[in-house]
Parts: sequence; C-alpha cells; structure tokens
Amino acid sequence: MKPKILVSREVFPEVIEHLAGHFEIDYHAEDAALPPAELAARLAGKAGAITMLTDRIDDSALAGAGGLKAVCNVAVGYNNFDLAALSRAGVLATNTPGVLDDTTADTVWALLMASARRVVAADRWVRAGRWQRWKFNDDWLGQDVHHATLGILGMGRIGQAVAKRAAGFAMRVIYHNRQTLPGEVERACNARWVSKEALLHEADFVVLMLPYSPAVHHLVGAVELAAMKPTAHLINVARGGIVDDDALIAALRERRIAGAGLDVFENEPALDARFFELDNVTLTPHIGSSSRATRLAMAMCAADNLIAALHGRRPPNLLNP
Ligand code: DGY
Repeated sequence: MKPKILVSREVFPEVIEHLAGHFEIDYHAEDAALPPAELAARLAGKAGAITMLTDRIDDSALAGAGGLKAVCNVAVGYNNFDLAALSRAGVLATNTPGVLDDTTADTVWALLMASARRVVAADRWVRAGRWQRWKFNDDWLGQDVHHATLGILGMGRIGQAVAKRAAGFAMRVIYHNRQTLPGEVERACNARWVSKEALLHEADFVVLMLPYSPAVHHLVGAVELAAMKPTAHLINVARGGIVDDDALIAALRERRIAGAGLDVFENEPALDARFFELDNVTLTPHIGSSSRATRLAMAMCAADNLIAALHGRRPPNLLNP
C-alpha cells in the first residue's frame, strides 16, 4: 500500500504525476490555502505533506497528525514552519534552496530598475492620458543604476546572484552578513563586506535578502531608514516582516528615501492601504520566484524531498537534522 500524503495547494500536473508514482494523494487542487482547522484535519492520517508558505505548520496543525513523518515546503523560506514543533513531533522538514536563486535575483533587478527609473508610476501616468508634451527637465528624472553602489543585506545564494548581475552596470557592490564570505566568493561577486551601518549609509540601492526569523523582525525601521541617503531605494524580495511598514511609509511620504520596490509585506496579501497613495513605491504580489520553470523546479524539489524522506533516505534539503 502506498503511503498517504497531502498536497495542500494546486501545483503543476507533472508534480502530481511524479508524486502519484509513490504515494496516495489527498490533493487540495485549489489555488487558495486550506483554513488552519481543515489543514490540521487533512494532515491527520498522512505520512507526509507538500506545503506552501501560506500553510502555518505548528503544534495545532500537527496535533492530530501522529503518523506524519515529513513536511516539504515549496519555498526556500520556511518561516511558516514552527521548526521546534516539527522537531518535537519527530517530523522532518525541508525547503527548496538553490532552484529559485536566479529567478528571484532577476525579480530584485526588475524592482530595482523600476524603482530607480520610476517605470510603473510613469506607465500609470501615460495610461491616464497625462502626457501632453516631451520635456527635457521633466518630472521623471530618476536615479542612475550604472556606477551606483549596491548594498546587499544578507549575502546568501540569492544575494550573490543579485551581486553578480551588478557587474553589467559597473556598480560598486557592498554587502553585510554576520560573517564575511570566503575571499573567492567575494571576488566572484566583486563585493566587499561592510558593517550594516556603513551599508545603509553608502548604498544607493539597499537590497534585503535575509531569511526571516524573529531575530530580524523590523530590522529595517525608522533608525535604519534615516541612515539611508535621501536618493536611495529600498528593495525587499525577502520577507515583509523584516521591514517596519509604518516607518517605511513615513520615510517614503516625506521623501526621506527616494523609493522602494516591494514584493513582500508583513500581512500579505492584506497590504497597508497607505502604500497605494504613494507614487514612489513599486508593489508586486510576492512573485520573486514566479516563472513557470522555477515554480516547477521548486515543486519537483519538494516532491523529491518527500520521496526521499518517506523511502527512509535523508531528504536533500533537510532543515531539522
Ligand atoms: C520562497 O521560496 O521563500 C519565496 O518567497 C516564494 O517563492
């Protein structure tokens, strides 16, 4: 008899076919998260689950799931997991690192350039029929990306992919991690370690690439935003909770920073409506990894983690060894 698993949300048919070779699947084939009580109920009696970042896996989700052996997230971020609760319950947890680095780095650049050159606001203005004549010293003067300083807070795999793309723009790249990277990695990224304070002070583009944990909650607040240049842009494709939205909205409103490109929000998808009134913020709906090829690779990676775990092998991307 095949082990029973839950797939908590709609994925591509290829992924279901791949899993079906190994498991009996309870498939919630809808593009909406299961309410917490239903998620808990459907985890009961399952050996494993494929989950999304919208599924909170904690003590209450696990309460009735005595036979559960592995939960495999289709995301590199796993702040939807209470890892301690999963470990206490003896459940293996996995994520999908690596396969989304380039796509997410591309999204960072899309937001960075859109914010610097005010692409989305200009598009709205043109569509509103407000373009009457071409002007030289126009209202759309933006910031140069080329030869600017790129500051990356959180220089993991995705941060490094972002840094490598900066070479084409002849940028100076600085980064901050708790620890410096090995020299060969710094050279490959053409990046130099600086303190967080120096990064905020010197960067024309501050890119947040940290994994979320309570330790980095509101890491960027009023003090950090005040340390940034008035011409600088903040780009967040990591997790919303890293930024204090109140402080960011005030800084954008008062033009204490030039702009922001945001793909993630603290209470997404319920955004603070004050963002909508600002013309110096570019907003996207958590699409960092959203190309078909990458989302497929992520789901296949999660499937392979689950197949390994339920066949008694160590899953490649185990989070709680
Ligand atoms: C991740 O993988 O953590 C992204 O935020 C979702 O694609």
